Amino acid sequence: MTASVTPNRLRSSTRWEAPPAAVAEFHRRMPAYAPTLLLDAPDLAERLGIGRILIKAETRRMGLPSFKILGASWATYQALCAHIGHEPEPWGNINELAATLAHLRPFTLATATDGNHGRAVAFMARLLGFESRIFVPQPMSPARIRAMEAEGATVRVVAGDYDDAVALAAEEASDHCLVVSDTSWPGYETIPGQVIEGYTTIFHEIDDALEASHLAPPDLVVVPMGVGAFMAAAVTHYRSGGHEPVIVGVEPLTANCVQASTLAGAIAHVPGPHESIMVGLNCGRPSLIAWPRLAAGIDWLVSVDDDGARRAMRDLADAAVVAGETGAAGLAGLEALMTDPDALASLPDPSSLTVLTVVTEGATDPHNYETIVGRGHDTVGRVLTAMR
Ligand SMILES: Cc1ncc(COP(=O)(O)O)c(C=O)c1O
Repeated sequence: MTASVTPNRLRSSTRWEAPPAAVAEFHRRMPAYAPTLLLDAPDLAERLGIGRILIKAETRRMGLPSFKILGASWATYQALCAHIGHEPEPWGNINELAATLAHLRPFTLATATDGNHGRAVAFMARLLGFESRIFVPQPMSPARIRAMEAEGATVRVVAGDYDDAVALAAEEASDHCLVVSDTSWPGYETIPGQVIEGYTTIFHEIDDALEASHLAPPDLVVVPMGVGAFMAAAVTHYRSGGHEPVIVGVEPLTANCVQASTLAGAIAHVPGPHESIMVGLNCGRPSLIAWPRLAAGIDWLVSVDDDGARRAMRDLADAAVVAGETGAAGLAGLEALMTDPDALASLPDPSSLTVLTVVTEGATDPHNYETIVGRGHDTVGRVLTAMR
């Protein structure tokens, strides 16, 4: 694997406000909401010489194969409240919410995506009885497009990269169409801020699971980064309380826009083509509102090549976790960090560390998964329950 590991020279002691409790309360009312699994991976930890590796498996979240619905659902809800000018009538479940918003129809949710966020927005639109229009860059795997269409989305393939798709989606905004983007630009900051808030539910679930198991919080947290919204949620969580783990962000070598920005000292653009198999991370520019948190909160930046992601997918399959290409990036970054002499010199003894990594997606392209891992995703980590 080829990798680049750099310390973040912009790191500061800035603290952030914890998001409102209303975020987690909202998610509990979403259909099929349940905390995702937090797994202990002792074999993997032993192989990497690390005390403990915890894996938060966002491979199945409310029926979707990634964490993105947490941000898309909360931001959509907040945007709809702003659109109608008040909180909807009291509601207990999504069908009741859809009924209170039925007067808006026909109504559309639009966004750009490199896969998972668009699928989550389309899912949310379907639950609410709305339409969805999703703009995707080229190339985009047919399986990912089909998954969005299966949620009822109209998918527009844009001749260009992710940034071009974002620009086109932004033009859709109207009285009958809300743009629910996970990235931000000047003048469009509120909704992406709510996407970040939505993701923080993951870290609350981790705290709860560790507390219930009488385990200490992580010393090192590894998170994949595209535009950096998910990392901004990690920074919000871990730079607002008392406990401050080392935070590591991971990107593809060919789309390392957060790493390039920390090296440049300001938001930098990494030109395309962005063709990593870690498609969720193929972004050329960090999100404007995520950036201050990324700059202040991350300790180490790691960019990895596709071979690193492939190897991490296989390692995770051995640990019974189905991780798609993007989902495995965190482990690939951890593997690179653990062989970097400067990083090792600055960290405590690895054998004393508890490391948390978030596997942010499952097999979002089952055919690719089988090609890389050598077996179908449905044969990995199967739980067989014996009949009595
Ligand atoms: C599976 C997965 N993991 C991580 C990310 C990165 O999230 P962000 O773009 O907020 O950095 C994405 C983004 O699409 C994703 O789909």
